[in-house]
Amino acid sequence: MNVLLTGGAGYIGTHTAVELLEAGHDVVVADSLVNSHEEALRRVERITGRGAAFHRVDCTDPDALRDVFSAHDIDAVVHLAGLKAVGESVHQPLRYYRNNLDALLTLAEVMNEFGVRDLVFSSSATVYGDPEAVPIPESAGLETTNPYGTTKLFIEQMLRDLAAADPSLRIISLRYFNPIGAHASGLIGEDPQGVPNNLFPYIAQVAAGRRDHLSVFGDDYDTPDGTGVRDYLHVVDLARGHAAALDHLADREGYRVYNLGTGRGTSVLECVRLFEEATGVHVPYRVTGRRPGDIAVCYADPTAAAHDLGWKAQLTVADACADTWRWQDGNPRGFAGEPSEG
Ligand code: NAD
Ligand code: WQD
Repeated sequence: MNVLLTGGAGYIGTHTAVELLEAGHDVVVADSLVNSHEEALRRVERITGRGAAFHRVDCTDPDALRDVFSAHDIDAVVHLAGLKAVGESVHQPLRYYRNNLDALLTLAEVMNEFGVRDLVFSSSATVYGDPEAVPIPESAGLETTNPYGTTKLFIEQMLRDLAAADPSLRIISLRYFNPIGAHASGLIGEDPQGVPNNLFPYIAQVAAGRRDHLSVFGDDYDTPDGTGVRDYLHVVDLARGHAAALDHLADREGYRVYNLGTGRGTSVLECVRLFEEATGVHVPYRVTGRRPGDIAVCYADPTAAAHDLGWKAQLTVADACADTWRWQDGNPRGFAGEPSEG
């Protein structure tokens, strides 16, 4: 298949490109590079020995997207492009709504013009808000607590409506839990700009000596050790989930939603311990107050993806710790630094 990856130069996009190329697909990347580097795509080529075609385009620009669809005979789209920083979205809601919603609407219109009907969308467990119970099935209630999450919820609703109006469409929303880790080659990984918002990039930068210590955001939650519990999913497993979703779409019309998670929860302090064990590097931490908006516990019921897509997470948090460290240690300045010797 000829697969268009919007946002394909980013963290999840590059790992997805690797898995799709290795599965024999051709990959076309459309990315504005607002939060990524073209170097990441050169690394994808080093890993797979095959390049992805790259177009630097903003998905909110219909003419630029038309040029991409005209240049390639696209069979299916994986739509990863979007802004994703929760805190930033609270301060810049208009930018988040404009970018994330406009990109989806523009993409859907251009897909329609070119007769492309298969779409996999990057949604998020953030659409469950503060869940009533865990593990969380796809049927759980939906609510959001920040504009970023609301863009995911709105887009899911739009996709449901589009599929209801045109029964020939084949659309899957994948609700990712917490992606972590890096490709085992150490050539690609998460490359946050500025101070990391998320736990694993922060741990990695503390281990590398770039930051003094980790702040553990609260140890008074109703969890076994008092710290927050999440479903951390290796990014390579997540990437393989997209390949499984594309295979599944091939002969099934309509709209479906799947959780991609492991079904297991891990606390912040367990993450610190697993990272130290996997790498032999000490990660100093201090417990501070809770981060506003955080929830105590969140982990997936992944049985639907196992049943329908034949997909299950295979890698562990310990694997992700080792891979995160290989990436961080080999690329201390991310993609902006010197090319890794790999
Ligand atoms: P990322 O920022 O590394 O990748 C997103 C890519 O989209 C970037 O390369 C960016 O340059 C590009 N982009 C943004 N707006 C664009 C536009 N208008 N046109 C073209 N390109 C644009 O983030 P990621 O972690 O790889 O996330 C990929 C997708 O998965 C996002 O939609 C994100 O919301 C979703 N998601 C991520 C997580 C997570 O924890 N990383 C969890 C759930 C869902
Ligand atoms: C994990 C745990 C923190 C940093 C976010 C988004 C979500 C999704 C994934 C896109 C929590 C604790 C963190 C730190 C800490 N993204 N923590 N010190 O909040 O579960 O999810 O990313 O869709 O929408 O909200 O992930 O990695 O930020 O936090 O103690 O410096 O680590 O309190 O318990 P989160 P996270």
